[in-house]
Amino acid sequence: MFWWWLWLIAGPVGADPQTRLLNQGCSQYKAMDLSDFYASLNATISDLKAQLRSGKHFATAQQSGGSDSVYAMAQCRNYLSTADCTACFTIAEKQIRNCSAANGARVVYDGCFLRYEGNSFYDQTTLEGNVGLCGKQTVSRNAAAFTSAVEEVLSDLQVATPKINGFFAAVKKDSTSSSGGGNVTVYGVAQCAETVTKSGCKECLKVAYANLESCPPDADGRAVDAGCFLRYSNASFFAQNQTTNIAPFLSNGHGSNKKAIIGGVVGGVAALFFVLVGLFVWFKRSRKPQAGDRGDILGATELRGPVTYRYKDLKSATKNFSQDNKLGEGGFGDVYKGTLKNGKIVAVKKLAIGQSQRGKAEFESEVKIISNVHHRNLVRLLGCCNKGPELLLVYEYMANSSLDRFLFGERRGSLRWTQRHDIITGTARGLAYLHEDFHICIIHRDIKTSNILLDNDFHPKIADFGLARLLPEDQTHLSTKFAGTLGYTAPEYSIHGQLSEKADVYSYGIVVLEIISGQKSNEIKEGDPVGEFLLERAWKLCERNSHTELVDECLDPEEYEAETMKRLIEIALMCIQPSPATRPTMSEVVVLLKSKDSFEARPLTKPVFVDANRRPRGDTSTSTASSTSNATASVSRISGR
Ligand SMILES: *[C@@H]1O[C@H](CO)[C@@H](O)[C@H](O)[C@H]1NC(C)=O
Ligand SMILES: *[C@@H]1O[C@H](CO)[C@@H](O)[C@H](O)[C@H]1NC(C)=O
Ligand SMILES: *[C@@H]1O[C@H](CO)[C@@H](O)[C@H](O)[C@H]1NC(C)=O
Ligand SMILES: *[C@@H]1O[C@H](CO)[C@@H](O)[C@H](O)[C@H]1NC(C)=O
Ligand SMILES: *[C@@H]1O[C@H](CO)[C@@H](O)[C@H](O)[C@H]1NC(C)=O
Repeated sequence: MFWWWLWLIAGPVGADPQTRLLNQGCSQYKAMDLSDFYASLNATISDLKAQLRSGKHFATAQQSGGSDSVYAMAQCRNYLSTADCTACFTIAEKQIRNCSAANGARVVYDGCFLRYEGNSFYDQTTLEGNVGLCGKQTVSRNAAAFTSAVEEVLSDLQVATPKINGFFAAVKKDSTSSSGGGNVTVYGVAQCAETVTKSGCKECLKVAYANLESCPPDADGRAVDAGCFLRYSNASFFAQNQTTNIAPFLSNGHGSNKKAIIGGVVGGVAALFFVLVGLFVWFKRSRKPQAGDRGDILGATELRGPVTYRYKDLKSATKNFSQDNKLGEGGFGDVYKGTLKNGKIVAVKKLAIGQSQRGKAEFESEVKIISNVHHRNLVRLLGCCNKGPELLLVYEYMANSSLDRFLFGERRGSLRWTQRHDIITGTARGLAYLHEDFHICIIHRDIKTSNILLDNDFHPKIADFGLARLLPEDQTHLSTKFAGTLGYTAPEYSIHGQLSEKADVYSYGIVVLEIISGQKSNEIKEGDPVGEFLLERAWKLCERNSHTELVDECLDPEEYEAETMKRLIEIALMCIQPSPATRPTMSEVVVLLKSKDSFEARPLTKPVFVDANRRPRGDTSTSTASSTSNATASVSRISGR
């Protein structure tokens, strides 16, 4: 009502931007970097507005590259004047701003529509959540004639519109009523997004048509979907001279055939026809969905659901899961490099968890949750396949594989200090997002260098998060297979199965020490006479205030400042505190890493040298015994809390 009022005082007399709101939705996920996001959103919106002002009825604009990409699309019905189109867009913009920081949103009006998302959606046609909105009143007379006229109009529009340049058609149809009560007139409009293909437009309108089929004899109806719009009414809603001649686009005179049949029946067995149509209408109405129950389900999340891949496509993409394509083996299954038919390279994970243990619906809903996690330091889950013999997950492909190869493997020593520092901060940001910023807290449980992948520019991306959610409940605790990896797992979790996000903080601390030292947490440094594991060594060096001795000798001492290094090692040791409560949260770690000021060093407790040390250490049996007792002491302290 407010907008109508606004239009009444602001709009030129006689103009109608048709701003009846049909559908709207905000994504439930927020953009990451708000100032960046708003700048991109504002830029795309003014770009769209400029294009519509210049007389176009369809426009797209995007800003990508920052932390939050914005892809936007606007469309006016072609019968609107430029002034009405701009007026409708202005109202749509105001309304869509109500979604504030949501990373996706959409508003659909009679006259126009506006949508933006974090990913390109320009080729989307029909999506889950498509909806038909039937009018509240039925036509007052000639219901049967009206119903058949509507069906004819909608079916003609569905056939013709995809063949018309610009994918828009407006038609007016008069027909003579069979019961002699005067003529009936039906007005209809169909439109597709100009970025979809002809067959996409056809497919979308087919669904729209099915959504409206049960509406007549309601006086009007609208069908809303991602890639198209369909509307009919008994009243004119566009100017006479805006109608499209669709006759040339109807194959084999489809429209006139129908007319001939109707005409023949009218001339002959009018009464029988009326009974039949009446029955037909009654049947249709009895199947009609309850008005309102499908009102606003075109949610932005439904618009961005994960892609379901076909098993056979993934099989051929990975050359039948050949050894040559194998990228690695993880706790949850093997990973293969795949090249999809469109040339896109992906990583396909064959899940090693039983398929029957969890219902497919549950699997799909978990995949949907994970695929909605978007952060530059987290590997994107693109989709899944649960129709074949195995469960498959499809991820974005990371060219440089995992961090362990650069620290300990064949490319050891090739990462410079600035790159290592970026990896330390990026990994912290990714984890903080998983723990605190996503709408549910996701605990990774298996943070380690082989789960940190590097993109082309050596930016870190955490892999395998959320997969523990796919496990059956009884396998998620105390199972050696899934309780993380030796050398990285927090003692309270590996021993007691007590899981909190602080278990990830612990593993993160270990990863930081590995990045700094180039030493594996569960291996003794080559040529080390004392035979200490990483954590023990770091702690002792720290006690002696000779932190920099820990630093990887592959690193040029010119590249880093001793102070920074000392700070980082202390932050890592804070993360490895035996008691989860004294470890910082990941967002605190991000702040600590960022601030240049020296922080009041928290008193650190000696870490528990537990997991790695359980392995025999050759002939230094005394030291094994001592570290085991150490562990026991700390464990009893934890459980005594
Ligand atoms: C974006 O536009 C809105 C509304 O016009 C304005 O309030 C906001 O300050 C703008 N933000 C940026 C970052 O330009
Ligand atoms: C904007 O959203 C708030 C709730 O978040 C709602 O109360 C208000 O009516 C909305 N405004 C418009 C114009 O829809
Ligand atoms: C369309 O139908 C509605 C509802 O029956 C009626 O009120 C209205 O007058 C009709 N409009 C025209 C132009 O026939
Ligand atoms: C009905 O429409 C036809 C043509 O479409 C026209 O010739 C006729 O006069 C109309 N009848 C009435 C009662 O409006
Ligand atoms: C349609 O008619 C209106 C006046 O009713 C006129 O302003 C407009 O230019 C016409 N449009 C076309 C495409 O002929």
